[in-house]
Amino acid sequence: MRIAVTGASGNVGGQVVSLLTAAGGDEVVGLSRRGPVPADYDDPASLRAALTGIDTLVLVTSDGEAARVLTHHAHLVSAVEQTGVGHVVALSGLDTDLASPFCYAYTNGVLEAQLSRTGCAVSVVRASLFAEFFAGFLDAARATGELRLPASDARVSLVSRADVARCLAVLARAEPTGRAHEVTGPAALSMHDVAAVAGRAWDTPVSYADVDEPTFVAQTARSGESPWWTYAYASMFASIRERRWDAVSAEVRTLTGRDPVPFDAACEFRATR
Ligand SMILES: NC(=O)c1ccc[n+]([C@@H]2O[C@H](COP(=O)([O-])OP(=O)(O)OC[C@H]3O[C@@H](n4cnc5c(N)ncnc54)[C@H](OP(=O)(O)O)[C@@H]3O)[C@@H](O)[C@H]2O)c1
Repeated sequence: MRIAVTGASGNVGGQVVSLLTAAGGDEVVGLSRRGPVPADYDDPASLRAALTGIDTLVLVTSDGEAARVLTHHAHLVSAVEQTGVGHVVALSGLDTDLASPFCYAYTNGVLEAQLSRTGCAVSVVRASLFAEFFAGFLDAARATGELRLPASDARVSLVSRADVARCLAVLARAEPTGRAHEVTGPAALSMHDVAAVAGRAWDTPVSYADVDEPTFVAQTARSGESPWWTYAYASMFASIRERRWDAVSAEVRTLTGRDPVPFDAACEFRATR
């Protein structure tokens, strides 16, 4: 089989390429703008060329401003249809509700709907929030001892990128499942739990302070974050407050045969002095 992986120069796609290559038996083609097979989400012709002759596509979603992400995904779906890719293993998110406040719930929901209309066989990984990504919100707390986030008392089932990549790789080598797999970490953590993990790793007290959205937006903008990411993070926490990220599933064990990595282990690089 010829398996192509988008986002291959990134964290998740790179791990999927390594896993598939190590498994052997298939031809693996890593796609990004800079790879040996250049594929640019902004350039439909390059996507068609890259996907010609591909049996299975691991579609690692695009990132950045949502309007652009929608265009990128539309180009990818068109290329899938035009080249006759047989199976798409798509990365999506736990929250795909088009009515969610989260900007990427919309882009992922639209992607899943577009893929289902192609007639191509699809297996979907609906990943929870990446532990390593979420740990970025801990950085400010390191200096102040206060984790100031607008999460209320909601929980998040943070999952390591490595587990997400392992699930994508397993699905890429399997028969299409035709369904969405909720891929989560081993537990739904409150922000008090997240603060406690950081406190233990840094050997310093860290407490969670629930802040309202305007306060979060102001503190995020003050830290130098761009308007887009300030908005995107605020929309993500609005979705968290609506309890859209607290599901815990057994999919990592079912698909990979091993338990998902806990939050503290997934973030070891960040949590040590
Ligand atoms: N669930 C979560 O918590 C969460 C958090 C963050 C992100 N995500 C999603 O998960 C995806 C994978 O995460 P990651 O950490 O692996 O991301 P990453 O390390 O930033 O990798 C992004 C990849 O996208 C490629 N890319 C960017 N623009 C492109 C373009 N115009 N055409 C073709 N390729 C392009 C990059 O390749 P080049 O730049 O080399 O071309 C790179 O390989 C993200 O893209 C995002 O959709 C989910």
